[in-house]
Amino acid sequence: MTTTTAAQAAYLVAALLFILSLAGLSQHRTSRSGVVWGIAGMGLALTATIALASRSITATGLVLIAVATAAGAGIGLWRARVVEMTGMPELIAVMHSFVGLAAALVGWNGYLDADSGLTGSLLRIHHAEVFIGVFIGAVTFTGSVVAYLKLSARIKSRPLMLPGRHALNLGALAAFTVLTAVFVARPHMGLLIAVTVLALALGAHLVASIGGGDMPVVVSMLNSYSGWAAAASGFLLANDLLIVTGALVGSSGAYLSYIMCKAMNRSFLSVIAGGFGDQPVTSDDGAHGEHREISAEDTAELLRDASSVIITPGYGMAVAQAQYPVAELARKLRERGVEVRFGIHPVAGRLPGHMNVLLAEANVPYDIVLEMDEINADFAGTSVVLVIGANDTVNPAATDDPGSPIAGMPVLHVWEAADVVVFKRSLATGYAGVQNPLFFRENSQMLFGDAKQRVEDILRSLDATDGSAVAMVGTAN
Ligand code: TAP
Repeated sequence: MTTTTAAQAAYLVAALLFILSLAGLSQHRTSRSGVVWGIAGMGLALTATIALASRSITATGLVLIAVATAAGAGIGLWRARVVEMTGMPELIAVMHSFVGLAAALVGWNGYLDADSGLTGSLLRIHHAEVFIGVFIGAVTFTGSVVAYLKLSARIKSRPLMLPGRHALNLGALAAFTVLTAVFVARPHMGLLIAVTVLALALGAHLVASIGGGDMPVVVSMLNSYSGWAAAASGFLLANDLLIVTGALVGSSGAYLSYIMCKAMNRSFLSVIAGGFGDQPVTSDDGAHGEHREISAEDTAELLRDASSVIITPGYGMAVAQAQYPVAELARKLRERGVEVRFGIHPVAGRLPGHMNVLLAEANVPYDIVLEMDEINADFAGTSVVLVIGANDTVNPAATDDPGSPIAGMPVLHVWEAADVVVFKRSLATGYAGVQNPLFFRENSQMLFGDAKQRVEDILRSLDATDGSAVAMVGTAN
C-alpha cells in the first residue's frame, strides 16, 4: 500500500471518528467518550498528514513541523488547563480566530504558489477557491477577535449602531461577489488585497453590531464560519478530510446557532446579518417597587417545610463556584424526602451546556437536571424555587413586557412557584443589562451575597437544626 492510499484510508477513519465524537458529545453520559473519539481522530489525521507531507519536504521542513506541533500542543495544553469555565467562550473565540487566520493564509499561499499546474476551467475553479477561502477566513478572523474582546469585557458589549449598517454589510457582500467574478477572469494581487481588507472590515463590523444578549449565538456562528473556512482550505489543499471536517463543524455550528436563536426568540437570519432587531438596552428607571430580603437561616426554614424545590442556576453560580455546596444542598433535601430538581435554561451561563457541565462536575444525578421545556409547566405546583446567580433567564419581563429588549425570549417561569429566593450580590442587572421585575414580586425574596457562601450558610443552618433535633430527641429519651 502506498503512503497516499494509507493516508486516504486514515482520513476516512478519522472522519468517522469525528462523527462518533459529535454523536458522543450530544449527551452528558457519552460526552467523555466523545472527547476521546475526537482526540483519536485528530491524532490519526495529524499523523497521516505529516506522513504525506514528509514525502516531499526536506529534513528542515520536518523539523519545523515538529517544532510548530510541539509549540501548538504545549500552548493548547497550558491554556486548556488554566482556563476557568467562565472563560471558555473567550478561549473558543480565540481558537476560531486561528482557524480563520489559517484559512486566509492558506488562500494567499494558494495564490502565491503559481506552480499549481492547473489550466483552463480547473485553474478558474482554483482561483475561485483562493478568493472565497481568503474571504471566509478573514471574516472569521476579525469577527472572532471582536467576539473575544467583547466576551472578555475588553471592549463594550453594546451593539455598534453605524448608520446604514445593513446597507454596509449588503454592499460588502455585493462587492465580494463582483470582485470574485473579476478575480476568476483576471487574477490580480490587488484584487486579493482588496478582498482581504473588505473581509477583515466586514467580520469586525458584523460582530461589533451584535448586542450582548446575542453573543452566545455569535460564538456558535463563528464556530460555523470557522468550519466553512476550514472546508474552503480543504478544497485548496485537495484534502478530503479537511473538507469533511470543515463541513461537519460548519453545519453543526449553524444548527446549534439555529437552536440557540429559537431559545432566545431571535431570528437566525437577523443575527447572522448582524444587529437586525437589536434594541438599545434600556437602563433601570428604578420604578419597580420594593424588594424583600431573607436570611440564610430563614431560607433553610423555608426549605425544611417545602415538599418540592426547583433550583435554577445561572452565570452567578459559575462565578461563585457554588456548584459543590448546591449539589450538597440538593442531596440533603432529597434525603429529607423533598423533591428536588434543577431547571436549566438553554443559554444560562456563558456557553451552551455551561450549567450542565458544572452540575455534572459536582455529581448531581442527570435525571434530576431538566431542560427549560421539560420543567416550565411544573413551577406552578412547586413550593420553593432557588434562583442561584441567574437573572436574564428568569426575567418575567420577557413574557410580560413587549417593550423589553428581551421580550419574547423564552424564560424559566420561576415566579409561578409559591416562594422564590434569589441568590445574588445586589439588584444589579444581568448580561443583557435589563432590570428584572422578579426581584420586586410579592412571592420573591432576595438572599444577598456570594452564592457559594450563602448556600454554605444554609447547609450549616440545616445541620444545626438537625443537631438540635437529635439533641432534643436524646433529652426526651
Ligand atoms: P445573567 O443574566 O448574566 O445574571 C447572572 C447574575 O449572577 C448577575 O445578575 C449577578 O448579579 C449574579 N452573580 C454574579 N456573581 C455572583 C456571585 N458570586 N454570587 C451570586 N450571584 C452572582 O446570567 P443568566 O441568567 O445565566 O443568563 C445568561 C445571560 O448570558 C443571558 O443574557 C445570555 O444571553 C447571556 N449569554 C449566554 C451565553 C450562553 S451560550 N449560555 C453566552 C454569552 C452570553 P450580582 O452582580 O448582583 O451578583
